[in-house]
Amino acid sequence: MKIINVKGEHRYPVKVGVNWTNEVKAISSIHNKVLIIAPKSIVSKYKLKESSGVKFFTTPEGENQKNINVLDKVWSKCAAEGIARADAIIGIGGGATTDLAGFAASSWLRGISWYAIPTSLAGMVDAAVGGKTGINARSGKNLIGSFYSPTEVLIDLAFLNTLPKRDLSAGMAEVLKCGFIADYKILNLAQDDDLDYQQLITRAIKVKADVVSKDFKESKLREILNYGHTLGHAIEKNSGYKLRHGEAVSIGMVFAAELSRKLSGLSDDAVLLHRELLRNFDLPISYPINKFKPLLALLAKDKKVRNSKLRFIGISKIGKPVWFDDVSPSTLSKVYERIAK
Ligand code: GLY
Repeated sequence: MKIINVKGEHRYPVKVGVNWTNEVKAISSIHNKVLIIAPKSIVSKYKLKESSGVKFFTTPEGENQKNINVLDKVWSKCAAEGIARADAIIGIGGGATTDLAGFAASSWLRGISWYAIPTSLAGMVDAAVGGKTGINARSGKNLIGSFYSPTEVLIDLAFLNTLPKRDLSAGMAEVLKCGFIADYKILNLAQDDDLDYQQLITRAIKVKADVVSKDFKESKLREILNYGHTLGHAIEKNSGYKLRHGEAVSIGMVFAAELSRKLSGLSDDAVLLHRELLRNFDLPISYPINKFKPLLALLAKDKKVRNSKLRFIGISKIGKPVWFDDVSPSTLSKVYERIAK
């Protein structure tokens, strides 16, 4: 087992290579009651059973669970089961489930302990680590939430064998992102025929943990984790969420690399490496030419809703992030041509 420590409002371990059922037993033994929040697929697949100290809340699958109606039902379940201050919530599932579970824990009784057991690759290396919890608002994704770190993040690599190839690839986009912004070794490991997931995941989490520990509330440094995400979020939305988050981020990273070539002298080889590595995982690297206008409109809207700058993260070389503020629409348009099909 590998342990990576993260510092949010408190320090906590991310344990890579655990047996999750043993961990659930251990957590249940230290709290009077635990509420497990997990999608139906997990509850039925692993034949999870309630007991006097272990209760379940079953969520809908996917992004649908991150809304106020589901959260309201979690609160009702907490009330019905008498979940108290010293009790805990365990979120078992993909990123949507751990985001929901963490926010439920942060809001119930002004905050109770919670544990994340991510089952998707994107959840393991991104969503469950770093203390961002929340749900979606009608006006946009992830607009409601809190920074609320878990007590532990517990990663059982056996879940990887249960994932469809498409989800594994989408998760690899976030792993490769950590390579591009901070750790060249990840990019080497990703080219092996026989992938060493334990090392890839551990290294990607280490990148995220280091960044989050220095800038938990995202005053600036944490923004580097959004490499590929500015355009990626707009593409995800424009696709009507048909593209997985990681797939949209994959296209967004090629865009960010092309922007970096133009604005900070990123080498042609480094841009090519983006394309080659992402393609190796069957990730998309281009988007239709006629979508530029709607994407630009989405970028402007997102900026307004979040009261933020239209900021792109780039790199000047592998492992050296840079910030691009207020990039002009004409530059965006020229760079978009390089990723358009
Ligand atoms: N997913 C980016 C972050 O946690 O900051």
